[in-house]
Amino acid sequence: MDFSAIIQSSQSEGKEKHVPTITVDKGYKEGHDIVRVVVGHETPHPNTQEHHISWIELYGVKKDNDQVINLGRAAWAPVYSNPNVRFQINQIKDFKAFYALAYCNIHGLWGNMLAA
Ligand SMILES: [Fe+2]
Repeated sequence: MDFSAIIQSSQSEGKEKHVPTITVDKGYKEGHDIVRVVVGHETPHPNTQEHHISWIELYGVKKDNDQVINLGRAAWAPVYSNPNVRFQINQIKDFKAFYALAYCNIHGLWGNMLAA
């Protein structure tokens, strides 16, 4: 079994939603663009001590050489904060795609991709 076999996508969703939504917002000035990643954009995921989204990671794939860059990670305290994060990206035009991973403590790893 390879690593991708444990990353679930929208085809695996039940009534609770886990797939991270990735959007790009133009920055207020050159070089300050925002990649926003949210779990539960339409339908909030449970946020209790027993069942919650623990963290989100964002990766970018560079246009020129396909290098994968780890752009950041955010983690949350269940109950008190929500899985909604903004990454400010300095050189957004260097990337051809963004990949986000989200981890639910009950339902495991979930992934999504956005072509830039
Ligand atoms: Fe879950």
